Amino acid sequence: MHPTSQKIFPTFDLGDVILREKQESDVTDFLRYYSSPEVSKFILCEIPQNIEEAKRELLYWRGVFYQNDGIYFAIADKKTNQLIGSIGLTSHNTYQSRIELSYDLASEYWRRGICSRAVAIVIKYAFDVLKVNRIEASTACANLASKNLLLKSGFTLEGTLRQHRYHRNSYVDVYFFSMLRSDRANISASNS
Ligand SMILES: CC(C)(COP(=O)(O)OP(=O)(O)OC[C@H]1O[C@@H](n2cnc3c(N)ncnc32)[C@H](O)[C@@H]1OP(=O)(O)O)[C@@H](O)C(=O)NCCC(=O)NCCS
Repeated sequence: MHPTSQKIFPTFDLGDVILREKQESDVTDFLRYYSSPEVSKFILCEIPQNIEEAKRELLYWRGVFYQNDGIYFAIADKKTNQLIGSIGLTSHNTYQSRIELSYDLASEYWRRGICSRAVAIVIKYAFDVLKVNRIEASTACANLASKNLLLKSGFTLEGTLRQHRYHRNSYVDVYFFSMLRSDRANISASNS
């Protein structure tokens, strides 16, 4: 059931893709790209194995917005409206004023700058709308694409959490990144 809240989920147009609310009808596309070997390789969580599990996960991420825990967008191809990825903010700690960023994209769309642009929008949303002081992100140390995306987006690498996650029968080292509200001025200056 769609939440009955008065909150209006925002949409952002990035040219070739849009960031929009997830819909139940996205579930097949979600399962297809998310469980593909290329994408699931670095997702350090349980991957849904069938439509029912995928639907539960999709609805969970959609609910984050209505529970005031953050916001989780579908990345959709603008021409077809087909879901090709996800990006968002979760685990909003209002007392500490921080939130966590995560993302994933179907492999056919990699290296077109889609996530760089989406991350920039989501960072702005976190600081301007959710008014957080700190955005956190973590990634498996072996995930070069994600590490470089975060560095390119202006995140600071704070350190390595050794064997922080158990994934596919082994313990995985994880990089921990952050961006502070006060970092933003430096990022704008270096991009201008
Ligand atoms: C990480 C991921 C989201 C990047 O999305 P993307 O839209 O392809 O990223 P962009 O095209 O915006 O690239 C941004 C930067 O990231 C880096 N990058 C992206 N893919 C890379 C790769 N395969 N190898 C090395 N660096 C890479 C580059 O620095 C790139 O900037 P450049 O193109 O100017 O050199 C995508 O690879 C993905 O979905 N991977 C699988 C799921 C995943 O790892 N999720 C994150 C879990 S923490």
